[in-house]
Amino acid sequence: MSMTQTLTLRRPDDWHLHLRDGAMLEAVLPETTRHFARAIVMPNLVPPVVTMADATSYKARILAAMPEGARFTPLMTLYLTENTDPDDLTRAYASGLISAVKLYPAGATTNSASGVADFDKVRAVLERMAEIGCPLCVHGEVTDREIDIFDREAVFIDRVLDPIRKSTPELKVVMEHITTKNGADYVKANAERLGATITVQHLMLDRNDMLVGGMRPHYYCLPILKRREHREALLAAATSGDARFFLGTDSAPHPSHAKEAECCAAGCFTAPVALACLAHSFEEAGALDKLEGFTSLHGPAFYGLPANEETITLTKSDTPAHFPKQIPNGDDPITVFDPGTPVFWAVSNSSSL
Ligand code: NCD
Ligand code: ZN
Ligand code: ZN
Repeated sequence: MSMTQTLTLRRPDDWHLHLRDGAMLEAVLPETTRHFARAIVMPNLVPPVVTMADATSYKARILAAMPEGARFTPLMTLYLTENTDPDDLTRAYASGLISAVKLYPAGATTNSASGVADFDKVRAVLERMAEIGCPLCVHGEVTDREIDIFDREAVFIDRVLDPIRKSTPELKVVMEHITTKNGADYVKANAERLGATITVQHLMLDRNDMLVGGMRPHYYCLPILKRREHREALLAAATSGDARFFLGTDSAPHPSHAKEAECCAAGCFTAPVALACLAHSFEEAGALDKLEGFTSLHGPAFYGLPANEETITLTKSDTPAHFPKQIPNGDDPITVFDPGTPVFWAVSNSSSL
């Protein structure tokens, strides 16, 4: 007996995405435009997207790389540095070019060397952002050597994020890719102007999946996977229906050779499988009815944008879905995230290419 089940959602958006540049941009962009209507595009290129001029030309490169017939809107961001010009930022935001500004603590993650080391130096820019209503997206980890990597998010909340929010209470903040119960609890305790994105890998995996029985480089991302109780807290937050939690895949492609290396690059390439994996996890949590809020409604509400009118349909089969192991990228294929459990859901129809 064959049984299928379908689930139709408003077309989702991805509120945290790495599209890279050049050949890799061309390789990965269709994997997002196939399923998602919009994405907040991260600015951590080398060199980073710092000015309005940088974001203008990066957006043009993304639009030039769009697959035939795709309907997708890249929502651009600026990379905050200690030298960011508040007037340039204001022009970029007022013109509609950018939707947010991204804070990377210097050295916290992939391509974050130009990020902020002294948070006092960006105080004036943050004040300006609060004035004009431009959201700040935050990679929330401290970088001090003495702080254990598994504690860096919790310490960031206490030492950096909470003081910033207290001194600039009007600032809208997105805690990107939260990975801890501490992160979820902080959002719940602070109703005003605060949201959080959650990735697929942090909903599906804990650090045992990455480290027991051998080290799995394709599960290595930042912030690093935490212990199981944190994954459970994230899943509870994502499936709760609380509109402050929404999907940011943090799909972060690296060539497979850079992942399968002595010093492995941080990032999971989840875009092709994100929605199938989420349907799996939400169903397991008994919360399929909460999936559309998480993927398609809460993010637009936070950013003050309309939800998408088009839909996407997922189908559950009685045999596991087959996903590509890699996608081509010149001589440097990119390994697709594999959650390590059979997933029976797959996107069966998307109203855009
Ligand atoms: C991201 C990347 O590769 O750009 N990597 C990651 O592990 N998440 C950077 C980031 O989002 O921190
Ligand atoms: Zn990050
Ligand atoms: Zn990211």
